[in-house]
Amino acid sequence: MSDSASVSLNPWADRAQRVIPGGTSTGSKRPGVLYGSALASDLPTHARRAYGCRVETADGHELIDLSMALGAVALGYADAEVTAAVAEAASLGPVCGLPPLLEIDVAERLTRVIPCAEQVRFLKSGAEATAAAVRLARAHTGRDHVIASGYFGWHDWSSTALGIPAGAQADVTTVPFDDVTALHEAVANASATLAAIIVEPLVHHIASAEWLTTARDLCNQHGAVLIFDEVKTAFRVRTGGVQQQLGITPDLTTIGKAVANGYALAAVVGCERVMSSASRTWISSTLAAETTALAAARVVLERHAQRDVCGALDRIGAQLQQAVRRALEPHALGIGVHGPSVMWRLTAEQEPVLDALVAECARRGLLLKRGAYQFAALAHDDAAIAAVQSIVSDAAALLRDRTTFSPAET
Ligand SMILES: Cc1ncc(COP(=O)(O)O)c(C=O)c1O
Repeated sequence: MSDSASVSLNPWADRAQRVIPGGTSTGSKRPGVLYGSALASDLPTHARRAYGCRVETADGHELIDLSMALGAVALGYADAEVTAAVAEAASLGPVCGLPPLLEIDVAERLTRVIPCAEQVRFLKSGAEATAAAVRLARAHTGRDHVIASGYFGWHDWSSTALGIPAGAQADVTTVPFDDVTALHEAVANASATLAAIIVEPLVHHIASAEWLTTARDLCNQHGAVLIFDEVKTAFRVRTGGVQQQLGITPDLTTIGKAVANGYALAAVVGCERVMSSASRTWISSTLAAETTALAAARVVLERHAQRDVCGALDRIGAQLQQAVRRALEPHALGIGVHGPSVMWRLTAEQEPVLDALVAECARRGLLLKRGAYQFAALAHDDAAIAAVQSIVSDAAALLRDRTTFSPAET
């Protein structure tokens, strides 16, 4: 990936680099991550506003967005009902010295739609929710060891980034996704110290029922807590997540992203037996139950109750996949479309070719996510899907005739 510090960027990105290390506070939105080896000064890096499935860039250009804020938005940007509910909550005072009624309302609604949820604790980010789930599991079992598979956010317990003391990972074993044998081995090694198995149930594809059932059985046998991290999958694959689709119920689940359609809300939910440990340990955040995000979540929950949002996302996602496949097919660039329709990836035989495609699409009005998922939203209407096909087709045709992907792009 190009280091954005070494590439001349647009004035907004340059200005951002001076006051924000990396240019933005969200790692996946850094210019170098957006465009990789194709990073160049004419590419859009900042937005003025977002509406529906569209982004207005700092220069006033319009992009159709398939990243949908890293999956944080599934209805559409600036959804009118969500915005009205948030504005009302703001006007009523989003926080005060007492917990709000809305916290009870949204918690009750979550217990009705997420299979494992008997109780709920709200937080603000997915990383906080997964850290809380692990804390609850350790408090409940009185044990330390955690077996983990997936991405859980930036906190010390789950990351290996620079600046994390080695000891923070001492009680965490990472296992590969969907590997039954590795799971058995890790549990055998942890034996009586096992507090929890935490897994993302979808990484590139939905995990096999065998892997998740094995995790369920092993937790039952060892008195450990099974945690599904459904930060990306709840309110997307199914309202109640992968657990609803496969009928395998964990003890705890973490949710975030689409639950509040772009407002800052996450939660750990689960069975009362484990959740009750929250009263014995310490999990608390000053703004955890502020009402603007809860009001957004209530609208999302109402929308899911009124209509089959996940069914619609599935259909729209399949149409988007088909549009991109059709656009790429004639050009033999070695770029593939993979994954479930609601969240899918572009893969490439040669990474610089995909980077160049993403850059050319951005120049033509389409924001694709390289290295991660494209997310379907209800706001991707027929016109947007047709435009996606036409933009990818034009960009791919241009690249087909390019024989080298120059060092300037690598
Ligand atoms: C499965 C999963 N868990 C946790 C997180 C962390 O969420 P956040 O970035 O809101 O802290 C993410 C973020 O992408 C995620 O995909």
